[in-house]
Parts: sequence; structure tokens; C-alpha cells
Amino acid sequence: MKKICLAAAIASTLLAAPAFAQSAPDSDKIVVAHRGASGYLPEHTLPAKAMAYAMKPDYIEQDVVMTKDDRLVVLHDHYLDRVTNVAQVFPDRAREDGRYYAIDFTLPEIKQLSVTEGFNIKDGKQVQGFPERYPMWQSDFKVPTFEEEIEMIQGLNKSLGYDIGIYPEIKAPWFHRHEGKDISKAVLKVLKDYGYISKDSNVFLQTFDFNELKRIHDELMPAMGMDVKLVQLLAYTDWNETMVYDGKGLAQPYSYDWMFAKGGMEKVAKYADGVGPWKPMVVSDKSTKGNIKLTGLVKAAHEQGMQVHPYTFRADTGRIPAYANDFNDMLDIFYNTANVDGVFTDFPDKAVGYLSSKGRK
Ligand code: G3P
Ligand code: CA
Repeated sequence: MKKICLAAAIASTLLAAPAFAQSAPDSDKIVVAHRGASGYLPEHTLPAKAMAYAMKPDYIEQDVVMTKDDRLVVLHDHYLDRVTNVAQVFPDRAREDGRYYAIDFTLPEIKQLSVTEGFNIKDGKQVQGFPERYPMWQSDFKVPTFEEEIEMIQGLNKSLGYDIGIYPEIKAPWFHRHEGKDISKAVLKVLKDYGYISKDSNVFLQTFDFNELKRIHDELMPAMGMDVKLVQLLAYTDWNETMVYDGKGLAQPYSYDWMFAKGGMEKVAKYADGVGPWKPMVVSDKSTKGNIKLTGLVKAAHEQGMQVHPYTFRADTGRIPAYANDFNDMLDIFYNTANVDGVFTDFPDKAVGYLSSKGRK
């Protein structure tokens, strides 16, 4: 499988890098609440973010997409159909591919929807993605705007006296721009309005789209008098995570292969303060208990002064890799053996608890 071949390529090319590593001191290792406390409440709802906040992570993540009326909402997909009742409320509004695109709906329309624990459709029925999690359609949750979520986090920072940061991801900027929407400029404007303007601000801004990351770094932030920390998310080309439109308007997958080749991290570091890899890009899935095989990605990124925050650490049944005994062992392997600087997790209480047990918080 291509993913396995590329993992081997990472190991062979990145391991050749020289040896002076810059990583966060142990006391600075961070926890990012992935889509909030999404292991316990429906992802990206304000209750899931408030619950995450109470667990005291360092950052809370927002995936951001744009609506028809140019508002920013916090949703993982640029579709509404995996986590809302859009198909029941607006049955005639799907595109030809059967999906309900957030960009085709106004904010007042999206606010009419109920949010639930994520599901897939199998044989015409809704099947919960994580069956051990919060029950589908229980209680009533809404899609928050980006501003609503920032205001809640900043409000809690005031009332509780913590200083928890935000970690927004600009979702599919290539898609939004093709649809005529400059989502990156809109996200930066909101960040600036709420005081996130410099490297010292408590924010990491992330995207999978390298071309857009360069544009943010070279054009948008200088024009807006901003310079916040940027993170390049890493994908494999065959995930089709990022697309590029050719001259005929056809979307082709963006090739991530160069990022895993020799010199890849050096090029990324010209624009980014950190990288967000998938876990197997850091610890090979060929690892076994007692024989952890590192790909060399962390070392290569640290040599370029970048932090490494892999995704996604989940405690659900079947989500612990075979090389780890349990969730804490997986964290130990990543924080200590692989020396990552932080993790994205759906279970922020467990990662905060792990770091506390090591005297690091
Ligand atoms: O942004 C880090 C991680 O969240 C990337 O994966 O698909 O959950 O956004 P995804
Ligand atoms: Ca994300």
C-alpha cells in the first residue's frame, strides 16, 4: 500500500539528517483538544469545547469552513451531512454528489440544524462512527460560529484565570477559493479582531494546503500586520486531502511526497513554525512492543526549529496501535521515545493527566 511505501521513504530519507535537535523542553509539551472533548460530546459543539476547557489542555482546536453568506463556522467537514440533520431539514439542497455543502447554506439556515455524534450511512441507515461515544441525536447541539467559540474560550480565560489557546485549521482553502471565497483572509481577520496577531499570541494556525500556507505567510499576514505561528499539516498524496485546479478547471491531488523527501522539512520551515503529521508518519506501524521504529520525521523537523504535533490520539476500542499497551503507553512512546512536542487528542483529560503524572504540568 502506498502509505507503507511512503513511511519507508520517510525513514530512509529523514534519518540521514544531521543531529542537533530543537524540541520543546519537557515542561512545555502540549495537549491540543482535538475538536474539543470530542471523545465525550459531539465534536466541535460549544459544550464539547467547554468540557475540553475544564480539562485544562493547552489549546482547543477549531476546524473552520465558510457559509454562503461569508460567515465562518466550526465544522470538521466542508459538508454538513455527517454531523447534522441537514438531509431531513433541507432534503432538496444536496449537490449532484449527494453531499450537503456548508458553503451552499446561510448561517441562519445552518443554525436551524441539530448537531449529533458523527455517523455514516450504511444500507440506508445512520451508523455511529464511534459507537462507544455519546449517543446519536441525544439532546440538542448547534453549529457554532468561529467568533462564538473564541468568545467562549476568552470568556473562560477571564472567569477561570487560565490562558488556554486556540488552534484553528483553515479547511480546504483550495475548495473555498475555487468557490470564490477567501477563507484564509476571513480567518485572519477574525484572529486579528480578537487580538491574535503575533508569534506571542496564544494561537497556532494550521492548514493542510502548503500553497495557502505560503500565501498566508508571504502575502496575507504582512498585508494585515500579523505574524502568528503557522503549522503545516502533513497528509499522504493519495488521501486527496488537498486538490489543485489545472487550467481546465479539473481538480488534481496535490503531491505531498516532497515533504517526506530529503530537504522537505527545510522547505516547510521557511513558512511554518511546526508540522502536524499523522501518527504513523512519526512512529512506524511496523513497530512492535519493545521495538519502536521512528521514521526520523521529528528529528528532521526539530533540526529546522519546528515543533511537531501529531494527530489523532484516541482511546476508543481498536484505536491503540499494536505496538502500545494502552493509551498512556502510546502517549509515552510519542512524548518520550519519539520526542514530539504535543499531541492532538479527542481525550484531553487523559493526555493532561498523563503529563501531570510525569510532573510536567
Ligand atoms: O488538524 C489536526 C488534525 O485535526 C487533522 O486531522 O482531519 O481531524 O482535521 P482532521
Ligand atoms: Ca483539524
